[in-house]
Amino acid sequence: MLTIKNLRVFTENKEIIKGIDLDAKPGEVVAIMGPNGSGKTTLAYALTGHPNYQITNDKFLISKIELNGDDLTDLEPHERSLKGLFMVNQYPVAIPGLTTQSYLWQLYKKHNVGVKTSLLEFRKWITQQAEKLGLDPELLRRGLNDGFSGGEKKKVEVLQMLVSNPKYVVLDEVDSGLDIDALRKIAQTVAKMAKDLKVGILLITHHRDIFAYLKPSVVHVIRDGVISRTGDMSLVDEIESTGYEGNQ
Ligand SMILES: Nc1ncnc2c1ncn2[C@@H]1O[C@H](COP(=O)(O)OP(=O)(O)OP(=O)(O)O)[C@@H](O)[C@H]1O
Ligand SMILES: [Mg+2]
Repeated sequence: MLTIKNLRVFTENKEIIKGIDLDAKPGEVVAIMGPNGSGKTTLAYALTGHPNYQITNDKFLISKIELNGDDLTDLEPHERSLKGLFMVNQYPVAIPGLTTQSYLWQLYKKHNVGVKTSLLEFRKWITQQAEKLGLDPELLRRGLNDGFSGGEKKKVEVLQMLVSNPKYVVLDEVDSGLDIDALRKIAQTVAKMAKDLKVGILLITHHRDIFAYLKPSVVHVIRDGVISRTGDMSLVDEIESTGYEGNQ
């Protein structure tokens, strides 16, 4: 279980997340929607420990992030990741000097300690995964995200997710800017992982198309740093017809 209790997050002395409670069970898809600037990415960053986002704790209101009973609130990003929390970024960064495949191999080794896979076996497997996602395996030999298109970057994020052996994944607009085939392939890959390995998903999105593959059991709407509505797919219908402004 991933549990978020009374989460409050500051950046640049401004409170962005103003008390959020939510949880996700193993294998569950929890959708998070909300207008631009409402705090969705800030929530994702705070969960994964981005250093620019401070979680507030005071004597009376204690913010907490727990994964299967372990308190992640004060852990470093890499420690949270080793506990099984992974984020697919809205804006993946490029690291030109580091080849994509060596980064993925290092990540795989860190997250699969004790598993005896040779580099050769790994390369074969990661090439297959890239092909399944419709990503040209040639890109694996280039610098991480260096000059990659938006869709290619998203696919590399998904490869990172696969090698990281996560228990919970926060997907921040993984569907934005994808063509229809890329959306299907990425969404099916995430859905298969969620189902087969019981990985819980926090799915941040603006569009319902991805719900055809990743079916949320609950939909939360974030507005101005708080959860303003919670519901099922009928809430998505409502938002689509009235917009957020007509849906207070
Ligand atoms: N590092 C920062 N410094 C100052 N303000 C910030 C910072 N990060 C986020 N904010 C502000 O916090 C608010 C929430 O931003 P956030 O990126 O979380 O929105 P979002 O819900 O993900 O929006 P979108 O749907 O456009 O991705 C915005 O007003 C943004 O300008
Ligand atoms: Mg965002």
